[in-house]
Amino acid sequence: MRNVTPENISEVFAGYFGKDTDPRFREVMTAFARHLHAFVREVELTHDEWRAGLEALEWAGRITTPERNEFVLLSDVLGLSSLVDMINSHPGATSSSVLGPFHVSNPPPIAIGADLKGDFEGEVLLVQGQVRDLDGKPVPGATLDIWQTAPNGLYSSQDPDQDIMSFHGLMTADESGRYAFTTVRPVSYTVPTDGPVGQILNAAGRHPWRPSHLHFIIKAEGFRPLVTEVFPDDDPYLDEDTVFGVREDLVMHYESRPAGTFPDGFVLSGKVEGPWSKVDFDFTLVGA
Ligand code: BEZ
Ligand code: FE
Repeated sequence: MRNVTPENISEVFAGYFGKDTDPRFREVMTAFARHLHAFVREVELTHDEWRAGLEALEWAGRITTPERNEFVLLSDVLGLSSLVDMINSHPGATSSSVLGPFHVSNPPPIAIGADLKGDFEGEVLLVQGQVRDLDGKPVPGATLDIWQTAPNGLYSSQDPDQDIMSFHGLMTADESGRYAFTTVRPVSYTVPTDGPVGQILNAAGRHPWRPSHLHFIIKAEGFRPLVTEVFPDDDPYLDEDTVFGVREDLVMHYESRPAGTFPDGFVLSGKVEGPWSKVDFDFTLVGA
């Protein structure tokens, strides 16, 4: 086609696909191009704006490493990651939420009742619950990959003063699907702002804060893996998470408990002197 116009360019693009292309690939790519073309027409994108966009992507590429993926962060702050999560969620199952860039592969196995807090300062938080299926039956032996920030708001991969596995662990639920561990209350923190995403947030007058949360990846044979987060109901950023990760069913109350009432059966039993908090959170998985 030599007579390409602003009106027919999406159709011309679709017509260039080979006849044996994978149908889903064709569907996704033609829709992607059609929406991009419509966006350019709608905002009447200038050459300078188009170039600035490409330069931002180029910068994202330069600073992306296996430990820090600026493209994932861009997808997160645009709401793209959360929209993919939401449209792929299953009614009745626990909502999924952003993975984020700070998950560390091969976390150390930890036993039920283990402690992630170690010598870090802060109030002890007891987290416990059960993994179940859509019928409410326990999922024995589900694995829970757990991670969170240290009390300074940094993940281990961002902080040279932390062991890379600090606040990371892989727990196997018992025969009733139950899990339990102690940690320190997570804190609100900012996503990295020293790259193009920070510049975009700044230009948009947006803050980079996320409400405090605990991350989980839950896997069990015969079930879809669940990537999710659990948020306390008193966090000031709950209604303005910069990556749109909060869902109603993931918001939990952390109950305060007085000193001297910490239960037995935990690594920290007998060592918790002051007040502590507790959150009970059950996960519902959907069959694969
Ligand atoms: C996180 O929760 O770890 C996270 C998610 C998205 C962007 C940055 C961090
Ligand atoms: Fe996080």
